[in-house]
Amino acid sequence: MCGIVGTTGMINGVDIVLEGLTRLEYRGYDSAGLSVRNPDGSLQVHRREGKIEHLKNLIEQKKPVSSVVIGHTRWATHGVVNEQNAHPHGNDLFSIVHNGIIENAYEIKQELMNEGIVFQSDTDSEVFLQLLTLYFKQTQNIVKSIAKSFERVKGNSAFVIMSKMDEHLYAIKHGAPLVCGESAQGQLYVSSDPYALTGLTQNLIFPENSVIAHLNSDEQKISFYELNSKLSKRYKVEDKLDHQDVVSKGEFEHFMLKEIHEQPLLVQQFCHRWTEPEKRVIEQSSDLPHLFIFGCGTAWHAGLSIKNFIEKKTELRCSVELASEFRYRQPKLRKNDIAIFISQSGETADTLASAQLCREEGIQTLSIVNVKGSTLYRTCDQNYLIQAGPEIGVASTKAFTMQVLTGYWLSENLIQNKSLKSGIKPVEVLAQRIQELLGRSQEIQKIAEEVYSKKSFIFTGRGDYFPIALEGALKLKEIAYVHAEGYAAGELKHGPIALIDSEVVNIAIIAPELMDKTLSNAVEVKSRKGVIFTVGDEKQAVQMKEFSDYFLGLNFEGLAELAPLYVNVALQIFSYYVAKIKGTDIDKPRNLAKSVTVE
Ligand code: G6P
Repeated sequence: MCGIVGTTGMINGVDIVLEGLTRLEYRGYDSAGLSVRNPDGSLQVHRREGKIEHLKNLIEQKKPVSSVVIGHTRWATHGVVNEQNAHPHGNDLFSIVHNGIIENAYEIKQELMNEGIVFQSDTDSEVFLQLLTLYFKQTQNIVKSIAKSFERVKGNSAFVIMSKMDEHLYAIKHGAPLVCGESAQGQLYVSSDPYALTGLTQNLIFPENSVIAHLNSDEQKISFYELNSKLSKRYKVEDKLDHQDVVSKGEFEHFMLKEIHEQPLLVQQFCHRWTEPEKRVIEQSSDLPHLFIFGCGTAWHAGLSIKNFIEKKTELRCSVELASEFRYRQPKLRKNDIAIFISQSGETADTLASAQLCREEGIQTLSIVNVKGSTLYRTCDQNYLIQAGPEIGVASTKAFTMQVLTGYWLSENLIQNKSLKSGIKPVEVLAQRIQELLGRSQEIQKIAEEVYSKKSFIFTGRGDYFPIALEGALKLKEIAYVHAEGYAAGELKHGPIALIDSEVVNIAIIAPELMDKTLSNAVEVKSRKGVIFTVGDEKQAVQMKEFSDYFLGLNFEGLAELAPLYVNVALQIFSYYVAKIKGTDIDKPRNLAKSVTVE
């Protein structure tokens, strides 16, 4: 999390950095700031608590001009959200921005304070600034001071550094994303995210861990150094992103709504891409691998759905792992096992750490990922791009649908198998059904208007709908700031039923499969005065309306195992309207960030 943008070259970089930060605001929006370097070498910092908009207002007043600029949008880790803790952090010599966490910040800070150094903020990031300043005073060499400081700090971080001494920028990272780029005119860029550089550079250069990038505006080129100051070749050059990847809300009030509405077309496009691979990942053999699927948040829910496909369609054993937990267990991995990583951004720190662990164990790694060129994309042996296009709303919608669809395809094409294949037909039906559902948004909005003020929401589902219950609840809590839980319908009686009263809404997914059992669970809630909103089979409308306070009838016909994705879109629309009525910040919900690059 946290977005970083820096530029140096011939032109005033302030607007470039502000535009880049605006693109990266989804990474964090607790505060924002930028530093400029005046012609006399003095460094000036402009910072504001809150969104980029606040920083823009400040810049509008101050009108700084500089050819070398660094900027930052923050998702707070160490230190409360205020202006003092906003980045950049600086002094007379340096200004720095940081993304990540310095895990040993406390001990270094104590050490520096004992030497009389006074800290201006409560952030871990300032530790790097103080180390850098200390070492520069000793060595008078910027690259050496960066290297020495970097060697002291532990954890995953990326830093960009501006100095009084020159108009260059310096950057370094470990385990956090960092990308540089050069324009045809010799303007140089650095960012935590290729998206900020879209349309600006002719290439994207990804330095590896512990490589110092030196953006030398005098020579109009970027050089790379090892920590021992020797030139480094440890970086990868990739093609630039296309201009059209920069997106706007268009006619929609929120990115989230726009992204929900993009789903029918994306699903349809998925049909056009459907081909059988020439070679399967797994050759049929007696010793079948165990599949481990990893993800966080929504991506983990996608993994749960994909596991269901794999178990139905193949003989493979499969488990779904929370990437943040896996490393801390004693997982038993075998050489021929396969690890599948699901991520929209491809930058989630916990997912990346699990991918790294699997690589170290020598296991084959595959990704189901949206962002081409992301760290995960570059880490895995094989990548399946979900091709959802940029997802800007912090709460994931279209990426979930496309992750699950990609997993559905993979479950049919991973291994030569004799088991059940449903193929492309249900995907075509899904595109139509989602389109129809979007046309019924008002109906869902009305239900949202009736129940939005209730104190708690319990989403229930069974079998293939259990991951959807989890995802429905996550969406509602993310954007509407309301207590919501996803539960396996049959588990309700083992605890959560104690919560039920007339202030609790049970959103009961009652699909044709396991209908009788799921229905009984909802009736049990009704008997305890809970409010029931049933999302169920329209063919059973009469029976379901008997115990439901609200009923959304859906047509499950022809969707086979993709029906959960259809139900999920109904829940996305519901959450959207509850949040809209509550007046929350739907695209940038409080305390969240789209891309979680800290562990
Ligand atoms: C954050 C986002 C979630 C997302 C999760 C995983 O927590 O707020 O919406 O599901 O990260 O992100 P990824 O980019 O790995 O899919």
